[in-house]
Amino acid sequence: MRRLAVIGTGYVGLVTGSCFADIGNQVICCDIDASKIEKLNQGIIPIYEPGLQEMVVNNQAEGRLAFTTNIAEAVKQSDIIYIAVGTPMSPHGEADLTYIYAAAKSIAEAMQDYKIIVIKSTVPVGTGRSVQMLIAEHTPHPFDMVSNPEFLREGSALKDCMSMERAVIGATHSRAADAIEELHAPFRTLVYRTSLESAEMIKYAANAFLATKISFINEIANLCEETGANVAEVSTGMGLDSRIGSQFLQAGIGYGGSCFPKDTEALRFICSKSGVSSRLINAVIETNAKQRYVVLNKLQHALGNMQGRTIAVLGLAFKPNTDDMRYAPSVDLIPELVARGAHVKAYDPIALDEAKKWIQEDILYTQDMYEAVADADACLILTEWDQVKSMDLARLYSLMRQAVIVDGRNCFSLDEMSSHGFYYSSIGRAV
Ligand code: NAD
Ligand code: UGA
Repeated sequence: MRRLAVIGTGYVGLVTGSCFADIGNQVICCDIDASKIEKLNQGIIPIYEPGLQEMVVNNQAEGRLAFTTNIAEAVKQSDIIYIAVGTPMSPHGEADLTYIYAAAKSIAEAMQDYKIIVIKSTVPVGTGRSVQMLIAEHTPHPFDMVSNPEFLREGSALKDCMSMERAVIGATHSRAADAIEELHAPFRTLVYRTSLESAEMIKYAANAFLATKISFINEIANLCEETGANVAEVSTGMGLDSRIGSQFLQAGIGYGGSCFPKDTEALRFICSKSGVSSRLINAVIETNAKQRYVVLNKLQHALGNMQGRTIAVLGLAFKPNTDDMRYAPSVDLIPELVARGAHVKAYDPIALDEAKKWIQEDILYTQDMYEAVADADACLILTEWDQVKSMDLARLYSLMRQAVIVDGRNCFSLDEMSSHGFYYSSIGRAV
């Protein structure tokens, strides 16, 4: 059992803290957002993540997990301090490290003895060393720095953490690496020990590589449409080669979310700062930016004119099983639809409240998918929620004014849609 403090109780901090508590450690999660901590202390989880509510409440009840705004007290009571604050995109694409340095300073000011300080946030190479210098300037006490990047996905975060495929541990001293490796023992995962710098780079390289797979298959999808091939068959056929792998070859409207867009931009910035070519990453970003407008062109093509038309948008979150709206395609596309004169009715099973903070346009939000599609001239599918994929197609057909579906997530088979009589336009497959 170790005593841990986790600074920053967002997606990563809350999941990390809860999972470490669940395997038997004593964990205090801290945040500067007092309302978030107040809610957590009442057992209210500020984000939607399957299974998280139960895990938090159980571990609180068992006395292994606590929440506070008192970072100094949490640091004093802990041996290992995890930094899990945000590293958002700054206007130039660079990772904004303001929160990292603020957290580091508050740790240094509270330290009274030896600590292991672990950066879990995604940070540019060299950040661990700068944080080490900053902390040393503010405390006489000894400490070691560790980079232990996070690889969880939203929507499957608990599973990704509890059954993690690997833990990457980069440390300034082997005693700190030993401690963090030992902390991971209950996860029975593969531990890969590296330098601080390599661990930081692994995180960006891994995300950029996954983003590259997505942009690659989207480019192939666009080519499939022009040549008569079917991208679903192409990606399955490619993925049967174990050197390629079947994952992250799902063509669609491009990647969104809080990480791939920000991390690919940050990597591009690091390249330009280091004088190294970023041609490939530039292309990945550019392909992704264009991909979300592919569905808009398909919709325009199907309807001719959007003025006065009613469009049902199905799915607002950047992916299923989350309410996260950061860099969600819907945030770009709904204003475009409205600007072209369309009336938008939007449905999402979980993200409606969050979506209202991100979409300023005057649109109608519905809790019921069938209410959204009633009398619509077209349906635009932006998130492949199970609710959308299991829609009653006969009922959909009977409710819509025109049976036009533009699907950015390839939720249905072409045969199924044509047998129901829909005009169905998807990604990388013939209409
Ligand atoms: P988030 O925005 O959800 O949460 C960050 C939290 O840190 C907020 O609650 C904020 O109030 C708090 N905070 C900011 N400054 C603080 C300070 N000085 N002291 C205490 N708390 C402070 O962010 P997130 O999505 O959890 O991401 C955190 C980091 O993890 C980022 O670097 C991100 O790239 C990385 N990451 C995220 C994911 C993901 O799926 N969201 C996955 C892997 C890695
Ligand atoms: C991603 C990575 O998968 C995690 O390993 C990483 O820890 C995290 O970023 C991070 O650094 O924050 P996440 O953004 O939660 O996780 O979700 P993903 O499942 O990776 O999806 C990202 C985006 O890519 C979504 O918009 C999704 O729709 C899209 N995607 C994904 C595709 O378009 N095609 C695919 O085949 C896979």
